[in-house]
Amino acid sequence: MNIVLMGLPGAGKGTQAEKIVAKYGIPHISTGDMFRAAMKEETPLGLEAKSYIDKGELVPDEVTIGIVRERLSKSDCERGFLLDGFPRTVAQAEALEEILEEMGRKLEHVIHIDVRQEELMERLTGRRICSVCGTTYHLVFNPPKTPGICDKDGGELYQRADDNEETVAKRLEVNMKQMKPLLAFYDSKEVLRNVNGEQDMEKVFKDLRELLQGLAR
Ligand code: AP5
Repeated sequence: MNIVLMGLPGAGKGTQAEKIVAKYGIPHISTGDMFRAAMKEETPLGLEAKSYIDKGELVPDEVTIGIVRERLSKSDCERGFLLDGFPRTVAQAEALEEILEEMGRKLEHVIHIDVRQEELMERLTGRRICSVCGTTYHLVFNPPKTPGICDKDGGELYQRADDNEETVAKRLEVNMKQMKPLLAFYDSKEVLRNVNGEQDMEKVFKDLRELLQGLAR
């Protein structure tokens, strides 16, 4: 299964990706997670990515395409993959087609989690993440049993540096500009499917499962 999960910041890509990879046993490739790991390690890639991410801007295409190309060449992607947050521009989508063609592979599912912009600010500023296992919570929509503590392992919850109101506003502006041409690109290839992301998380996952099962037939 070769899947792309698309959606504006806060649409629920990471939340649903966790569930999909657990069910289908394919690797979860999140460009955002890859950049944050490099930032933590303070590698040259991390330092470069940080200068864009802190401002809510996109990391340049050539950098992002390079890390995805390398990741897709790893052996764990042979049985499929779930791309989360890539591609985000038409140039990235075209590069992905080229990369897959070189590998003799094809994109099977492009799923857009659709959420209106008005919902997203509240979702992102209320998001909290476990510092140990990375599980995502929300102060209102998916709170932990004990405030500030992960239900799974007792890890401390933190807020992502780019989840403050000012940076979220910029991220939404930047991503909305890219989204329309990207949706048109995949629509023209007849691989695009939409899922209503404004339902509760389990219902969104149910719709995704049904879609993936239907498409696999
Ligand atoms: P990235 O980490 O990919 O951030 P993003 O796209 O802004 O998306 P998020 O991770 O913020 O949101 P999500 O859709 O995963 O939502 P989540 O499931 O957590 O990228 C970060 C940065 O890296 C970018 O800004 C850019 O600079 C750079 N970058 C990454 N990829 C790039 C690329 N391809 N090109 C260039 N630059 C790139 O959910 C959010 C919250 O809502 C959570 O609290 C969750 O609990 C809650 N929630 C989820 N679903 C629901 C629901 N159904 N109902 C209610 N609440 C819900």
